[in-house]
Amino acid sequence: MAGGIRIALIPGDGIGREVMAEARPCLDWVRSRGRHLETLDLPLGADHCLATGETLSEATFATLRDTCDGLLFGAVGDPRIPDGHHAEAILLRLRQSLELTVNFRPCLPLLAEQDGGINLEVFRENTEGPYCLQGSTEPGRAVDLAVHTESAVRRLLEAAFQRAAERRRPLVLAHKANVLKHGHGLWVRIFEDLHRAMPEVEARTMHADALLCALVQAPRSFSLIAADNYLGDLISDLSAAFAGGMGMAPSLSWAPHRPYRCAALAEPVHGSAPDIAGQGVANPVGMFLSTALLFRHLGWEAEAADLEDAVARALAAGARTQDLGGTLSTKEMGQAIRSRLGT
Ligand code: NAD
Ligand code: IPM
Ligand code: MN
Repeated sequence: MAGGIRIALIPGDGIGREVMAEARPCLDWVRSRGRHLETLDLPLGADHCLATGETLSEATFATLRDTCDGLLFGAVGDPRIPDGHHAEAILLRLRQSLELTVNFRPCLPLLAEQDGGINLEVFRENTEGPYCLQGSTEPGRAVDLAVHTESAVRRLLEAAFQRAAERRRPLVLAHKANVLKHGHGLWVRIFEDLHRAMPEVEARTMHADALLCALVQAPRSFSLIAADNYLGDLISDLSAAFAGGMGMAPSLSWAPHRPYRCAALAEPVHGSAPDIAGQGVANPVGMFLSTALLFRHLGWEAEAADLEDAVARALAAGARTQDLGGTLSTKEMGQAIRSRLGT
């Protein structure tokens, strides 16, 4: 990507802020490598919402959409806002309104104690399904509508097929079309359609329930898994376990059709972890690896690879936060990674 790049930083709530503070200096580091990068800090989240009543204003959304190239996001969720409406109004709104259909969640087993032979990537649809926030609570029943559009399903599956073709790895679609005949029926039809167009890709469909059992029993037999928003959410947390847990998993969302200038959002897979927030013990690895995915998306391949390598070398040298059985604080783990970048 030529010219100056503008990235917005949204640390959010809880450990989102703690892990963002550690990854943030990586932006100065890419500048020191000659990249032109401007940053915009946005203190959106529960504190801001409770203090001002504002979640994500139209003006702020328009600024992000039209003046930024990408977003680096921590996590949202706070026990003081139990219905999580601010998280919906910030994170789900960004994903949906920026049409960030493709959510890429790779599992990178970097720990010696994990099975390094696992090579798994989840492609999760990011804007629809039951997460479209259409529903109602009525007397005696509750409804959550799941909407699947042909355009979003096709975009997600095209990205997954392209990746499978590039990597020459097999692709599996997780679905429940045996029950969800309409929505998941559409997924299977489009998947088969794309497979006919790309017969060189080894591709098959699996019922998601059976897939989960097989994934736990034989994770090495899977490579790329595509799924709708709901199943992809669940499968990606399971795949995080193969990398060592929630703190290890990165993600990048993007809009393949680029409807706006802002076409990417990088965020760790984990949430705001209220159970450990404020203790300074969260694992920042997922945040660092998400930052690397954003660098790669921006075309900064060397910087992305060097950052991933710094994380891998810190872990190989034994740097571990408490979720990984170690004793390092978030800051110490951040320092262990950054020192390997020479910062
Ligand atoms: P969570 O991912 O926040 O935490 C699940 C468990 O994993 C907790 O025990 C937590 O301590 C641990 N954990 C998570 N990240 C960790 C890290 N980096 N280092 C060490 N341990 C880590 O999920 P949850 O508890 O279901 O949700 C908490 C809040 O976060 C909720 O409000 C939820 O809606 C929100 N959430 C937000 C996002 C997001 O912003 N992308 C993602 C998931 C959940
Ligand atoms: C995630 C989270 C979110 C999701 C929640 C907080 C809305 O679980 O990013 O995986 O379900 O997408
Ligand atoms: Mn999730």
